[in-house]
Amino acid sequence: MKPKILVTREVFDETLDYLAQHCEVEANQQDAAYGPDVLAQRLGDKDGMMCCLTDRVDAALLAACPRLKAVANIAVGYNNIDIAACTARGVMATNTPGVLDDSTADLAWALMLATARRITEVESHIRAGQWTGWRLKQWLGVDVHHATLGIIGMGRIGQVIARRAAGFDMKVIYSNRNRVAPEIERRLNAEYASREDLLARADFVVLQVPYSAETHHLIGAAELKTMKPTAILINSTRGGVVDDAALVEALKDGTIRGAGLDVFENEPRLNPGFLALKSVVLAPHIGSSTEATRRAMAMTAAQNLVTALSGGTPPNLLNAEANQKR
Ligand code: DGY
Repeated sequence: MKPKILVTREVFDETLDYLAQHCEVEANQQDAAYGPDVLAQRLGDKDGMMCCLTDRVDAALLAACPRLKAVANIAVGYNNIDIAACTARGVMATNTPGVLDDSTADLAWALMLATARRITEVESHIRAGQWTGWRLKQWLGVDVHHATLGIIGMGRIGQVIARRAAGFDMKVIYSNRNRVAPEIERRLNAEYASREDLLARADFVVLQVPYSAETHHLIGAAELKTMKPTAILINSTRGGVVDDAALVEALKDGTIRGAGLDVFENEPRLNPGFLALKSVVLAPHIGSSTEATRRAMAMTAAQNLVTALSGGTPPNLLNAEANQKR
C-alpha cells in the first residue's frame, strides 16, 4: 500500500506527478494555508507531509498526527518546524539546501543595488509623471563598487554573495559563528571580523544567518547605532533577525542610510513604518523565487519525502536521531 501524504500548499504539476507515483496524495491546490485545526484534521491519517514556511509544525500538531513519519519543508530555513518535537516522536524533518543558493544570493544583490541607487524611489517618481528632466545633483546614490561588504553568516548563501562581490571590486569582511576554512577565505578574498568590527566598518551589511532564539533581534537599536550613518542594511534571510521597529526608527533619524528588505517580522503584516520611508526597498519574501529554483525546491522536498517514506535516509535529513526513535 502506498503511504498517504498531505501537500499543504500549491506546488508544480511535475512535483505532484512524481509524488503520485509513490504516494497517495492529498494536495491543497487552493494555495491558502490551512489553520492549525484544519491542518491537524487533514494530517491525522497521513504518513508524510510536504509543507512550507507558512505551516507551523509543532508539538501539538505532531501529537494529533500519530502516523506521521516525515515532514518535508519546501525551504532551506526551517524555523517553522519544531525539530526537537519531531525528533522526540521519531518524525524525520528535511529541508532544501543548495538548490536555492544562487537565486537567493542574487536577490540580496538586487536589494543592495536597488537601495544604493534608489531604484524603487526613482521608479515611483517616473511612474507618477513627476520627472522633469536631467539634473546634475538629482537622485544621488552611493557606490557599490569598491565599497566594503560585510556579510553576517558565511554559510553556503553567504559565500555565494561574497563570490559575486569580486565583480564589484569590493572589500569583503564577514562574521560567522565559526571562522570558515582558510582556502575559502582565500578564494573569496574575505576577511574574518568580529560582528562589532564588521558593523563599524561595512558600507553594506548583509544578513545571512538562520532565524533561531539565538539570532532573534541580532540587529537591534544598539547594533544599528554602531553602523556607519552611510551604511545600508540588507535582510533577505528571515524576519525576526532584525528588530523591525528599531530599524524603522534608525532609518527615520538617519542612524543608517537605507535598508533593502525581503523578509519581515510578522509577515505579511509588516511594520507600517517601512511604507512611509523612501530609504527602504521592500520585497515580499521572494529570495528563492525564480521559476527554476522554486521548481527545484519543490522536487527536492518531494524526493526527500519519498525517500523517507520508503525506509531510506533522505539526503537533507535535519534530525538523524529521529530514525533511532522509530
Ligand atoms: C527558504 O528557503 O528558507 C526561503 O525563505 C523560502 O523561500
